Amino acid sequence: MHCCTNLIIVKILVIGGAGYIGSHVARAFLDSGYDVTVFDNLSTGSALNLFEDATFVHGDIMRPLQLREVMAEGFDGCVHLAALKAAGQSMESPGLYAEANISGTINILNALLAESVGNVIFSSSAAIFGSPAYLPIDEDHPKDPENFYGFTKLEIERLLEWYGRLKGLRYAAIRYFNAAGYDVGGRIGGLERDPENLLPVVMEVAAGIRGRLSIFGDDYPTRDGTCIRDYVHVSDLASAHVSAFEHITGSQASISVNLGSERGVSVSEMVMKAREVTGREIPAEVAARRPGDPAELVASSALARELLSWEPRFSDTGTLIDSTWRMYCKHYGIT
Ligand SMILES: NC(=O)c1ccc[n+]([C@@H]2O[C@H](COP(=O)([O-])OP(=O)(O)OC[C@H]3O[C@@H](n4cnc5c(N)ncnc54)[C@H](O)[C@@H]3O)[C@@H](O)[C@H]2O)c1
Repeated sequence: MHCCTNLIIVKILVIGGAGYIGSHVARAFLDSGYDVTVFDNLSTGSALNLFEDATFVHGDIMRPLQLREVMAEGFDGCVHLAALKAAGQSMESPGLYAEANISGTINILNALLAESVGNVIFSSSAAIFGSPAYLPIDEDHPKDPENFYGFTKLEIERLLEWYGRLKGLRYAAIRYFNAAGYDVGGRIGGLERDPENLLPVVMEVAAGIRGRLSIFGDDYPTRDGTCIRDYVHVSDLASAHVSAFEHITGSQASISVNLGSERGVSVSEMVMKAREVTGREIPAEVAARRPGDPAELVASSALARELLSWEPRFSDTGTLIDSTWRMYCKHYGIT
């Protein structure tokens, strides 16, 4: 389906669209000619991430009536990105995560059914897989989350399956690996809030906001002893949402796909590249391993490539770091 065929305007509701990934997803749908409404409570998102060509509704997924009201306006599909996402915090506050992620999603799914919105794209996570039994991690990999956050994502995938089976809801569950980078055109206004991932922390050191980087373990069985992760550019993730929506509406079939660059980058490699791109020293020291950190996590995105004709365009380390550094320079007035 093309959104503008015969001037039919296709309406998408992006829940969590003021956040880091959601703003890029909203931008990707807008760029493809969709009519976009962002629904967000701005708890971790930012008004700076809202676009003039999208409608904004300040609302909370914990309030079912608000969801019903906005969905009653009629949408062809919904992207659901609103969640708590700190794996460590989820182990300390499982109740908080169960409510925000699982109950919040139940509210969304029930509102979708009540208002006859038949398609949903869900932000799932590589955390559903837990420690890798083999690499790269494909869709058949055992699903055994090691933290409560991953458990909430897996439970939501199961809910989607049942709502699909019982009520015909069509869905795409997209399991992101490590999202990184910013829109290369500089069109996103706000920095990700309280980021915990490697690249933003490296940028904070480069910008002088943090003294030094802690590298958690350099004795892993990897090529340089530091952990290897799969970083995928947020704009590559975003374009997959548009393709996934077009796929599930066109084929009338639901999908669950892994999404990563399929390239493993070690912590040391990322830091060295960041020194090169930013021209900054970026002091780093080796600290103890963190419990539950697997040595290596790399995705197989073969299914996404096959079903969605998806190819990462911006997920090389140079573009990931350069686009992030530009945002930090803008934000902190670094010249
Ligand atoms: N960042 C990653 O590397 C990564 C990896 C895998 C999966 N994910 C998933 O992607 C999604 C988006 O992550 P992100 O990194 O953009 O996080 P984010 O915190 O920047 O975005 C979440 C957005 O949802 C909004 N929100 C939160 N609770 C809400 C509520 N109750 N009602 C309405 N809006 C609410 C926030 O204000 C924010 O705008 C999340 O579901 C996350 O679990 C992220």
